[in-house]
Amino acid sequence: MKKKWWMLGMSAVVSISVLVGCGTGEEETTGEDPVVEQDEEETEVTEETQTLIMGTSADYPPYESIDLATGEIIGFDVDIATYITEELGYDLQIEDMDFDGLIPAMGAGRVDFVLAGMTPDENRKKNADFSDIYFTATNLIVSQADANIGSLEDLEGLKVGVQLGSIQEGEAEDLKEEYGFEVVKLNRIPEIMQELLSGRIDAILMENTVAKGHMEAQQQLTSFEIEADEEVGSAIAFPKGSELTEPFNEKLNELIDSGKMEELVIKWFDTEE
Ligand code: ARG
Repeated sequence: MKKKWWMLGMSAVVSISVLVGCGTGEEETTGEDPVVEQDEEETEVTEETQTLIMGTSADYPPYESIDLATGEIIGFDVDIATYITEELGYDLQIEDMDFDGLIPAMGAGRVDFVLAGMTPDENRKKNADFSDIYFTATNLIVSQADANIGSLEDLEGLKVGVQLGSIQEGEAEDLKEEYGFEVVKLNRIPEIMQELLSGRIDAILMENTVAKGHMEAQQQLTSFEIEADEEVGSAIAFPKGSELTEPFNEKLNELIDSGKMEELVIKWFDTEE
């Protein structure tokens, strides 16, 4: 948080000019500013809105990505953050960083909350508080169609790419012993996709909604879903004990209950959940 709410009063300066101490009984009638320079007499008000910093990893369309035309970060998560911060009366600033740096950045006070398609899991809950889940997805294995990878068994002896610090990394680590593949961890999804397209890795374990766009752009790719006990849910993350968690969660639920969330899902995922 750039400024705490109680600091606002300090920076707010009152813009009322008051004529005091004239003592002559004469009224100021010229309409011109009196040239009186005393502290209590002239102060200016600048109503400053508090800015909240959202951390994200803008490599994850449609959740968040950099709009090539404008250089701005756009996406489903950005629309959610914009709605909530506007409703709560904050300005929003977005910081892009690697996914595995998000929770540390929050811990260090460099960001106020994280919206990055982040899944609340037990490990993360040790260092962060989470809102309710606002969207759920599944995990896929994506590969080149001509590699004939149709099941986890087919991955034996192959290289599977995942995003560093993601729950997909954890999932791949869990599966690698049983299926005998190697896990390759990289920072950004486009980078991992590039490795697959150039044949340096054989498959990617990634979320279906994010794979979709890449698969539409690269017709030679194919995929299958991984059976999982738990769905891949996304939630907003906050520093432990943050006073933002509750109001954010309320607004998030308003967004869901009002049907606006469904509109955003259709806008960004082109599907109804
Ligand atoms: N849902 C997954 C996770 O938590 C992946 C999220 C990746 N997000 C991103 N913006 N790259 O861990």
